[in-house]
Amino acid sequence: MTKRMDDKVVLVTGGASRPGLGAAIGERLAAEGAIVVLTDIDLPGVEETAALIRAKGGNASAAKHDVALQEDWDSVVTALLADHGRLDVLVNNAGILDVAGMGSDRAVGALRSQFEVNVAGSFIGTQVAVRAMRKSGGGSIVNMSSVAGLVGFRGSASYAASKGAVKMFSKSVALEVAAENIRVNTVHPGIIRTNMQDQGAETNSDNYDAIEAAIPVGRLGEPEDIANCVLFLASDESTYVTGAEFIVDGGYTAQ
Ligand SMILES: NC(=O)c1ccc[n+]([C@@H]2O[C@H](COP(=O)([O-])OP(=O)(O)OC[C@H]3O[C@@H](n4cnc5c(N)ncnc54)[C@H](O)[C@@H]3O)[C@@H](O)[C@H]2O)c1
Repeated sequence: MTKRMDDKVVLVTGGASRPGLGAAIGERLAAEGAIVVLTDIDLPGVEETAALIRAKGGNASAAKHDVALQEDWDSVVTALLADHGRLDVLVNNAGILDVAGMGSDRAVGALRSQFEVNVAGSFIGTQVAVRAMRKSGGGSIVNMSSVAGLVGFRGSASYAASKGAVKMFSKSVALEVAAENIRVNTVHPGIIRTNMQDQGAETNSDNYDAIEAAIPVGRLGEPEDIANCVLFLASDESTYVTGAEFIVDGGYTAQ
């Protein structure tokens, strides 16, 4: 029986965290037949994720990768092309959340570090992927934004700025490469149960309680909710979809 991602070569960044979106995306795409390369700054963690996917019958490997570094992107993608011949899908998932509001002395530093990882990291990755995908006739790039890239979040101005930037550079790149069969879309998760969410709730718990109470479907999101959306964007089911924003938030931003 054919699967939705049969033989597609996929690179997912930020795959070490469990529960985490990268690990869930890697697992879902591998279950649909993809060859998945997971990367992370945390090598033991991402190797463990890849081993868990292999134990379930998936094709997964792992590599160390700081997405903020051009040289890491170059070596990861060179190795991936040597091993698998082409790159069909990049999921720029790695990201950091640093809650430092306007009252914090760290606010500007947090802005800079979140832009390094969230914006420059996925921007460099998008460029490296576009260059690889041009050689093999196309591909799909999925960039992880957030509902914080769509609406304001009290106390998270610098994170929101970084995720808004991801949304807007993605649309512009989508226009630049649309005629080359390369698609670029963003996913905007709401509040999803992962390690990042646990950390955010610890530092900003009043705000998160209020957000959780306001989710129309009445529950937090699960990593699989995001993985299902990424699967659609990564597969050939979405060949007419580019430059678009996919909100997966239980209705939170519909209000
Ligand atoms: N969980 C949510 O509620 C939520 C909501 C909206 C958006 N997001 C976004 O989804 C993505 C994944 O979030 P998550 O909840 O799984 O986060 P997480 O913190 O659980 O996992 C993030 C992973 O990224 C890795 N990472 C951090 N910096 C890195 C770097 N410089 N290079 C390589 N890897 C690095 C971490 O080691 C970790 O394994 C992030 O971009 C995040 O901003 C998450």
